Amino acid sequence: MKSRLWMTALIATAVIAGGCSAINTKTASEKKADMEEMNHSNMSHEEMMNMENSHASHTNPLELNNSTGENELALPPLVEAKDGVVDITAQQGKTEIFDGIQTDTYGYNGSFLGPVIRVSEGETVTFRTKNHLPEPTTFHWHGVEIPGEGDGGPHQILEPGATEDVKFTVSQGASTLWFHPHPEGATAEQVYKGLAGLIYVEDENSKNLGLPDEYGINDFPLVFQDRQFNEDKQFDYQAVRNEDGTIGDTMLVNGTLNPNLTVGKEKVRLRLLNGSNARNYTLKLNTGDTFEQIATDGGFLNKPNEMKEITLTPGERAEIVVDFSKFDTSNVVALVNEADSILLPFKIDEQRTNTVEIPETLNDYVVTEEEKNLPVTKKLELFGMGEMVYINDKQFDMNRIDFTQKQGETEIWEIYNKPDMMGGMTHPFHIHGTQFKIVSIDGKEPSVELQGWKDTVAIEPDQTVKLAVRFNNKGIYMFHCHVLEHEENGMMGQVEVL
Ligand code: C2O
Ligand code: CU
Repeated sequence: MKSRLWMTALIATAVIAGGCSAINTKTASEKKADMEEMNHSNMSHEEMMNMENSHASHTNPLELNNSTGENELALPPLVEAKDGVVDITAQQGKTEIFDGIQTDTYGYNGSFLGPVIRVSEGETVTFRTKNHLPEPTTFHWHGVEIPGEGDGGPHQILEPGATEDVKFTVSQGASTLWFHPHPEGATAEQVYKGLAGLIYVEDENSKNLGLPDEYGINDFPLVFQDRQFNEDKQFDYQAVRNEDGTIGDTMLVNGTLNPNLTVGKEKVRLRLLNGSNARNYTLKLNTGDTFEQIATDGGFLNKPNEMKEITLTPGERAEIVVDFSKFDTSNVVALVNEADSILLPFKIDEQRTNTVEIPETLNDYVVTEEEKNLPVTKKLELFGMGEMVYINDKQFDMNRIDFTQKQGETEIWEIYNKPDMMGGMTHPFHIHGTQFKIVSIDGKEPSVELQGWKDTVAIEPDQTVKLAVRFNNKGIYMFHCHVLEHEENGMMGQVEVL
């Protein structure tokens, strides 16, 4: 975090030194040249500290507040297709996030956030999307294997009042996916105001494993989003926007401020989504107890993975099972973030119990020898920060196709996060329209928690990640950093699948 501050301070200084208008008038390549230069300068630690103190005011890492637990967690409505159709309307509204105060918000089929849409593998479904917002938007299905024309990237703009049917056949296994807008230049703000929903894919396997699957009883979605409210308890995105990722001090889980969740004294499945613009979470139990991870972004792990904490960068999901039967109910049990901010306290209802056993085998995911031995055919280098973020020295251009790939063919993408002189930052790298496999991280097999289908992978500075990527459909797909402000600042490219 520190290094980010220094870099922001540095850039701010460079821009001031070079005239304030420079940041708006320089071309991408000029800006990049500036950065490379800074990369080679040798500023002392102290000098950097001084700069940090004088310029860091709006980039200080904000601590998250603790949940007081006074509000029961909101549960998004669960919807399934009726006659093959799911209606999804993006709309504006007012939401009582704070007692007695109306906050202007966006939502899908409601004033804030969206439903959980449940579909099954093999089902043909039409998402009937409508834009009732006062501005253009798109409907992007994050993690869904869908033909490019239905993917809802920046090309598929819906003007206010417009409606569009997105028909496709669910062709992937059980997973917890999500959806959000993707219009060029307004994604970050629209998500910030509340546009995000979940998609559950179920399949024969998930229906037969015997995992906790009673929605809102022992199977809960948890959408983590940090926000900053102004004095009037409104979102003022432009006022708090940070080019390196907008963070806030106020935690909302499923849109609920100060949430608590009532669970049984039993095994409970939590489907976690980091739906924040930029903040990373390392989630753990305040008691230090373990839980079992059962799924990554795009499907089940082969076996439950016992762990004490899990890190999710923006866009990533995981499913975990917490065994609440082992807790003494006189103590508070809570999900906390790394610095011990209390995100979600639980109330344990002793009357509610189940006898669910988590099976030993959940899936048959494998990275084959063949995949491990494939040559690298696409190389990507992530570099920069703030407004000066690049993939392979380029910023996003809607009219430029960066790569092509053949439908159904597996290619190895090698992605390198090139550090700057202050270290750089982690970029959550996401590819549309596919679930990929992580073949290696810095040449080594990924840790168990990443041995499953993924669509977003956190790449730390100086790390090289190899992915086996296959697209089962044709069309144009985005790949980008899921820090939404980085994506908007141009850390995005396009692959056309032919
Ligand atoms: Cu979650 Cu390009 O998006
Ligand atoms: Cu990034």
